[in-house]
Amino acid sequence: MSPRKRTEPAALPAPVSPERHAALHGPLLSWYDRNKRDLPWRRTRDPYAIWLSEVMLQQTQVATVIPYWERFLARFPSVKALASAPLDDVLSGWKGLGYYSRARNLHRAAREVVERFGGKLPATAEELLTLPGFGRYTSGAVASIAFGEQAPIVDGNVARVLSRLFEVEGVPGDREREATLWALASALVKGERPGDFNQALMEHGATVCRPESPLCLLCPVRDGCFAYRKGRVEELPPAKVRAAPRKLFLALAVWPHEGTLLFARRADKGLFGGLWELPAVEVEEDTPEAEATARLATALGTALTLEATLDSVRRQLTHRDLTLRLLRVRGGSRPTRASAFQELRWCTPQEAEALGMSTAMQRALDAALGHGVLESGAPPAKKAAGRSARKTAGR
Ligand code: ADE
Repeated sequence: MSPRKRTEPAALPAPVSPERHAALHGPLLSWYDRNKRDLPWRRTRDPYAIWLSEVMLQQTQVATVIPYWERFLARFPSVKALASAPLDDVLSGWKGLGYYSRARNLHRAAREVVERFGGKLPATAEELLTLPGFGRYTSGAVASIAFGEQAPIVDGNVARVLSRLFEVEGVPGDREREATLWALASALVKGERPGDFNQALMEHGATVCRPESPLCLLCPVRDGCFAYRKGRVEELPPAKVRAAPRKLFLALAVWPHEGTLLFARRADKGLFGGLWELPAVEVEEDTPEAEATARLATALGTALTLEATLDSVRRQLTHRDLTLRLLRVRGGSRPTRASAFQELRWCTPQEAEALGMSTAMQRALDAALGHGVLESGAPPAKKAAGRSARKTAGR
């Protein structure tokens, strides 16, 4: 019997012949040199600035990222500056970009880079992979673009380009397909200027080898594209089947007091972790207002009286369909701490601008202020009979 009992994954055969490598690598690089967009992170060699761009670009479009990237770098110009900033400031600098776990991981990783690597990002994908928030993609992107390592990357754009060039079957998320794509990317990135090559693949996917209406006539590697030869470009890769976003209902306490409102900072884990909000508790779609108020009272550790139902704000996230129900309340004692939240603060709207808050919560706050809850002498809004749902766009 063989001494090796456990079955190990079969090594993938070398997936790209030297001829095929030559037919794709050079033409994609020279296409990139001629066609690349002038993006600000392509003008720097600072690994931290490149890392930041890669994190921001993960779930956000290039045009949106540019001003955020510039502002964030001006506010936190180095790993050390980021590491020594309070998390609150970092989250507030991320305001509007969404997916706040990216900002929390960035901050944690900056602290580790200072502690473990003296403030300089390590230069290999293998070491980068040990930092919070660095998956295979980010490690490969930073290692190749900032440090010139021949490290592969596969993001959505690259996956589409490779699926078409090599006629890779399978739906996004399929493990065998992912393994094949990474093997192809690893083979292709060998050669000169790996960072530019990886960006060429991404750029090609973003601008030519697009999901819909791909511009095959402008493609520099059309002749070597298996999907093009077989007329299968439009059908590869197959669309990802997305689960419907989960409905989530939150009741929010709108508690005015002398020109201020009560704000709470959520626990670090979970949706909007570490961010500020009008104190919120989860409810069900049909939870009566009295019950929602009671849950808020428990969370805040004080008795509350419901004065009015103000509004509902709806917001669609990738995986959540959020409804925020605004309840205007008043209480006997004014809490400054509550175990359900990391912190409580009474803030004017101006002070609240500096708090890291999700866009959804910002919209809810705007809606509450629109109801005049802080206007002096304003009578409590009439108890609303029904709820109006406002759907808002954007992240
Ligand atoms: N998407 C993620 N990283 C990118 C980069 N460096 N260039 C273009 N698009 C990207």
